[in-house]
Amino acid sequence: MTEKWHDFPVLPRHIAIVMDGNGRWAQHRGLPRAAGHRAGAQSVRRVVQACHERGIEVLTLFAFSSENWQRPASEVRLLLELFAAALRKETDRAHEYNIRLRMIGDRSAFPRKLQQYIRRSEALTAENTGLNVVIAANYGGRWDIVQAVQQVLEQAQSAKLDAEALTPEDLAAALSLSDLPEPDLFIRTGGEQRISNFLLWQLAYTELYFSDCLWPEFAADDLDLALDAYSKRQRRFGRLAEQVDSR
Ligand code: IPE
Ligand code: IPE
Ligand code: MG
Repeated sequence: MTEKWHDFPVLPRHIAIVMDGNGRWAQHRGLPRAAGHRAGAQSVRRVVQACHERGIEVLTLFAFSSENWQRPASEVRLLLELFAAALRKETDRAHEYNIRLRMIGDRSAFPRKLQQYIRRSEALTAENTGLNVVIAANYGGRWDIVQAVQQVLEQAQSAKLDAEALTPEDLAAALSLSDLPEPDLFIRTGGEQRISNFLLWQLAYTELYFSDCLWPEFAADDLDLALDAYSKRQRRFGRLAEQVDSR
């Protein structure tokens, strides 16, 4: 049987997902929030597999925001432990699938062991040419812009460049994900319709899609609903509809 996504006239190259709703999923079942985060980790596996099968180039997953440190210490600890466990358990399988794993965000705040797992996963899969899976952890869009400005300022000072010489391309080159295509499709599960300090600069022209599905329930069919919606959007980038090639 041909899967329905084969019929979509266009697929996004890069999908960025805010994986929200783990806590509510657990609460609806009378379970502790931790159970929701564990189920959410299973969902990550399913969606990575689905993106791999569909030939998506980049999947960026928001796993832990710079604001999530404000949650109770026990929940923060659990989230970091689940992240470490997933890296330890899944890296070899990802490597077999030719998946390249990397992390964006300020990793210096993480426990040393977790930083080691991240380095190992990135190093092992660095030459892989299949799906890029990017985990945003201790990531914030504002942090990203500030770290990019810091890099650009340092370069400008050493090269004695004028402030007026700065272009959007210079800043873009210093931001996370600069070597990858910009996100085409943003998905947020869990019913909220906000960015929550995820990729700010990079989402400038991304198509936004919001799903009421809670992240632990999000499966390949739900991804296909988003892909179907995406394939019906007309991306104009400021031009007129008639200037845009009809597909
Ligand atoms: C998303 O689920 C996971 C993280 C933010 C780490 P939540 O934990 O935010 O789930 P809700 O929003 O409370 O349901
Ligand atoms: C966004 O979810 C961050 C991640 C999914 C990692 P939150 O649940 O933290 O977002 P807010 O607080 O509802 O905006
Ligand atoms: Mg939430």
